[in-house]
Amino acid sequence: MITFDEDKQIFHLTNNRISYLIQIKPGGYLAHIYFGKKIAHYSSSYDYPQVDRSFSPNPPHAVDRGFSLDTLLQEYPGHGFGDFREPAYNIRLNDGSRVTDFRYHDYQIRPGKPQLAGLPATYVSDEHDAQTLVLHLLDQVSQLELKMYYTIFTKQNVITRSAKLTNHGNDTVEVNRLTSVAIDFPAASYDLIQLRGAWARERNIVREPLNLGIKVLDSKRGASGHQQNPFVALVQPETTEFQGEAIGFGLIYSGNHETIIQRDQYAQTRVLMGINSFNFAWQLQPETAFQTPEVVLVYSDAGLNAMSQTFHDLCNQHLVPRRFQQRQRPILINNWEATYFNFDENKILKLAQAAKEVGIELFVLDDGWFGARNDDRTSLGDWFENKAKLSHGVSGLSAQIHQMGLQFGIWFEPEMISEDSDLFRNHPDWVLEVPRRERSVGRNQYVLDFSRAEVRANIFKQMTTILDQANLDYIKWDMNRNMTEVYSQVLPALQQGEVAHRYILGLYDFLSKITQAYPQVLFEGCAGGGGRFDLGILYYLPQSWTSDNTDAISRIKVQYGTSLLYPISSMGAHVSAVPNEQTHRVTSLAIRGNVAMSGVLGYELDLTKATADEKQAIAEQIKFYKAHRQLLQFGKFYRLMSPFNHNDVAWMFVSEQQDEAIVFYFRMSAEASYPLVTLKLAGLDPAKHYRLGNAVYGGDELMNIGLYVDPNLTGDYATQRYVIKAIED
Ligand code: GLA
Repeated sequence: MITFDEDKQIFHLTNNRISYLIQIKPGGYLAHIYFGKKIAHYSSSYDYPQVDRSFSPNPPHAVDRGFSLDTLLQEYPGHGFGDFREPAYNIRLNDGSRVTDFRYHDYQIRPGKPQLAGLPATYVSDEHDAQTLVLHLLDQVSQLELKMYYTIFTKQNVITRSAKLTNHGNDTVEVNRLTSVAIDFPAASYDLIQLRGAWARERNIVREPLNLGIKVLDSKRGASGHQQNPFVALVQPETTEFQGEAIGFGLIYSGNHETIIQRDQYAQTRVLMGINSFNFAWQLQPETAFQTPEVVLVYSDAGLNAMSQTFHDLCNQHLVPRRFQQRQRPILINNWEATYFNFDENKILKLAQAAKEVGIELFVLDDGWFGARNDDRTSLGDWFENKAKLSHGVSGLSAQIHQMGLQFGIWFEPEMISEDSDLFRNHPDWVLEVPRRERSVGRNQYVLDFSRAEVRANIFKQMTTILDQANLDYIKWDMNRNMTEVYSQVLPALQQGEVAHRYILGLYDFLSKITQAYPQVLFEGCAGGGGRFDLGILYYLPQSWTSDNTDAISRIKVQYGTSLLYPISSMGAHVSAVPNEQTHRVTSLAIRGNVAMSGVLGYELDLTKATADEKQAIAEQIKFYKAHRQLLQFGKFYRLMSPFNHNDVAWMFVSEQQDEAIVFYFRMSAEASYPLVTLKLAGLDPAKHYRLGNAVYGGDELMNIGLYVDPNLTGDYATQRYVIKAIED
């Protein structure tokens, strides 16, 4: 899959569908030639023209005046020898200079894919599933070595990249930026797609034409954040869900991130993505290395759906913990919106009983079971049960719930501490704070310094004590505020620029240890909803609470946007009560069910108060979900009509064998004299016949002519669900 042409000095990474081409230019500069649809044989007879441009300097040893780093399409550009665009790295040497000159040294081609020390990354179980190119670059003066890793997957349209910087010099250097990926695209028009949002409005799709200049999309919050997901796609202006080229970039990282998109003076586009360079300063001591997180690059020539399906496949087969790759997820009930902090054992058992009766499989006890936690002002850090609320403790409750035939799990917020807690009284210096300054609170709490091993060890011990006592099947790992006063009490002044990243490395270390120690436990990530819904978390925790907003109508946008790269099997989605707690909107149980079952279905309402009819309707939803769970959690997902520009929204799931599909349709608001709506389906076998209700249609008919939504459908927030099954001819 990876070849090196000695004569032309060209590396070609290719599988059956994509090609990535890199050329070593005279002097050892690495030029980017191409990333896109497969090129069978790259002739190299028409090189990207190099033109002598005024005010574009020539680096040492340039063969002619046309050779300038300012205009060259590069793989991992620096700054200092005439490239005035945004650099992939920024390193301060001991003499105060920031000029480094990395030149190609040699390469290695390896089977499979190496793991990244201490960081989440995609993996392969079989060496034939991927091949890796390692390019070594050296800066002779500083004795810094740069290794760039490129992995091409055999079966997916995916290249992953990361970089590792090693200091072989005698002096410590300071790394202020080291991106995971840099890539330059030749002059062309692009649209940029990003996932923006806010708390309770995560990952809404924003698409805009890319103009000249620099665009920075980032998080400085210490977490990937609700506001800006670490993802972008560059697409052709004409790209739709079903056609056109798209290149998706997904960063496997959960902390401060930065994506810089620069369209330069000649309309060439550079994309950089990695750890945020803002306030980042890493002291790289002699003979130590810094490894960047990994970026996943996905290429599609069949629109955004195909890009997303590739991300989904990759997550399900090469990113989530192996034991969850194809494991169906249970239907849960969570007591949060049903009780908030106000519960006791009795109330919980009643809710569990009601849940069991409608067919729910897992009971999740949310916030409030520990310390003296009756509101959000206290007890984070005191992870021992509150016997006043749970008379038989967590283990007693767990035993009773298991006896009912339900699985059981609980909520933790391990990274946080309340001022009113034993932990804070004993270890006031364990929080992130700047000495002599006051602390900011967020939801009345502080952030524990997870960069410190002894802090993590304490929380680990407390959590495992509970896990060892009670028989738990599930843990919700929450994180409810962003970092302020980012400073660690134990690091010297010069290393304070490392704290935010060290925190994330500490978090990963913790997650890796706890998930490996309790492999049977299903962990669900959460951060005030989807405030840390990223590929890094997914490596450890196979699902995440998608949003604190449980309103079906808001959720349509959140889940539609989230599906751009995250698989359906990773999106927790609950049916809650109406009027909705976040938007006060009233919607039918039908639409709440249809939206929630388009993710990992759960319930979050007081079922003991539900009417008999409601319970009946819920039991039917659950029965339906159980019958179609494999398709709904792991089937191929197609977005058909977008909520970002339509009143009509639709998506569908198709089974691997194309013998079954489920289509969901949602109408936002009612209008008189509503036009007919046609749903052109996707992903079916054109040659097969499918039964829908009492009628039989050809797959080609359903995809090309489409099916018509019932013209008698009325009211706001209307919904339809269609189950389509192939019939034997
Ligand atoms: C966050 C979560 C909620 C719930 C509360 C509990 O907001 O997103 O689902 O767990 O915390 O305090």
